[in-house]
Amino acid sequence: MSSYIIEGGKKLEGTLDVSGSKNASLPIIAGTILSGKESKLYNVPNIHDTKITLQILEILGCKIHRKNGKIVVDSMGIRKYEIPENLMSKMRSSVVLAGALIGRFKKAIFTYPGGCDIGVRPIDLHLKGFRKLGINVTEESGLIICSTDKIIGSEIHLDFPSVGATENIILASVFAEGKTVITNASMEPEIVDLQNFLNRMGAKVSGAGTNEIKIKGVKNLKDVSYNIMPDRIEAGTLLCAAAITGGKIKLNKLEIEHINPVLNKLEECGCKIEKEKTSVILEAPKRLKAVDIKTMPYPGFPTDMQSVFSAVLCRARGTSIITENIFENRYKCLNELKKMGANIKIEGKTAIIKGVKKLNKANVYSPDLRGGAALVISALSAKGKTKIENIEHILRGYENLDKKLNKIGANIKYEK
Ligand code: UD1
Repeated sequence: MSSYIIEGGKKLEGTLDVSGSKNASLPIIAGTILSGKESKLYNVPNIHDTKITLQILEILGCKIHRKNGKIVVDSMGIRKYEIPENLMSKMRSSVVLAGALIGRFKKAIFTYPGGCDIGVRPIDLHLKGFRKLGINVTEESGLIICSTDKIIGSEIHLDFPSVGATENIILASVFAEGKTVITNASMEPEIVDLQNFLNRMGAKVSGAGTNEIKIKGVKNLKDVSYNIMPDRIEAGTLLCAAAITGGKIKLNKLEIEHINPVLNKLEECGCKIEKEKTSVILEAPKRLKAVDIKTMPYPGFPTDMQSVFSAVLCRARGTSIITENIFENRYKCLNELKKMGANIKIEGKTAIIKGVKKLNKANVYSPDLRGGAALVISALSAKGKTKIENIEHILRGYENLDKKLNKIGANIKYEK
């Protein structure tokens, strides 16, 4: 179990580049399975989750070359369509590999996915979608077995705009006979990135970014080069790091529109925000103001930013009310924050945060990916040296978070 030792109290000031998006990379890497050809992907973050996904692809029979942020996947040689259970259990998003395998081979065998323990994370909407496409889905001794002779385009209404289910259905229907229409689809920017990648290979997907997505089945796909979108959650996290320390940061290589929900809240907290084409400058006041937050599907405030923003609000002037509407167990890190002196009351899906003047060092435990990042954020503003254990979660999803923050004045040491 590795840790971060963070000496807090330093004002963060400087310029950083945002890395490629984790949540866009994972379904796009899965999508390379479809073509049976070569895909060159740029701006892929070097994080544990992308490494595990590529490891699964290699086991399935892909040839992979990775250098810096560029990855070349040749999926011609895939001979297997069973996702190894030990890797499937490591990350939730491995479930999108199923859609891609079904799309290409009309079969896939997998188990229930693992990942962050942030609440019950069913895949019923994914499986319902597969069934609507004419795929036979059965469960046998913990294995989910999907197979069919023919994938048939269909109208699929999602009960909830699930990101993963939307991605899985798109991937499974790229080669379907006829047209597939997904209504109440997820509108997240990562879905638009997946659509753009697939269309660059020759697929016919339209409507991503709205709640109705259409997929016209095609016969073949071709080689592709594609640049992954910037990580809007990493961007938000870095902005929050500067905000809680009363600092000033310029972030480059981002998509402003994607982080507007977070920028608006930071402005409400009293930060000065200057937007340029693909950059943003944030200047924080000495002490932030409390704000209320309700997480919603995009373009609402992202659930993935809730823990990190809550950490910031622990030091704000006044009382903030947080409502987590997407995952029911995303407050674990707030209990760790209490060890640092935060004043938080949790009632069901609501957290009431009374801002305190200072946070103190403590030994804390990272409960999940974004919760771990939240602990980093509060440790940056705490007095003394905070030890955050179990940072493997953070390494799953942030590329060089410690190095990036150290570059702008933080003091974070990595301990194995
Ligand atoms: C993705 C993101 C994750 C983000 C989440 C919501 C990736 C790799 N992960 O996760 O970082 O927090 O979107 O923005 O992109 N649900 C069902 N049945 C299903 C599927 C989902 O009930 O079949 C529910 C979930 O329990 C949850 C809600 O729908 O309450 C949202 O989940 P979903 O959008 O599917 O999240 P993920 O795709 O897992």
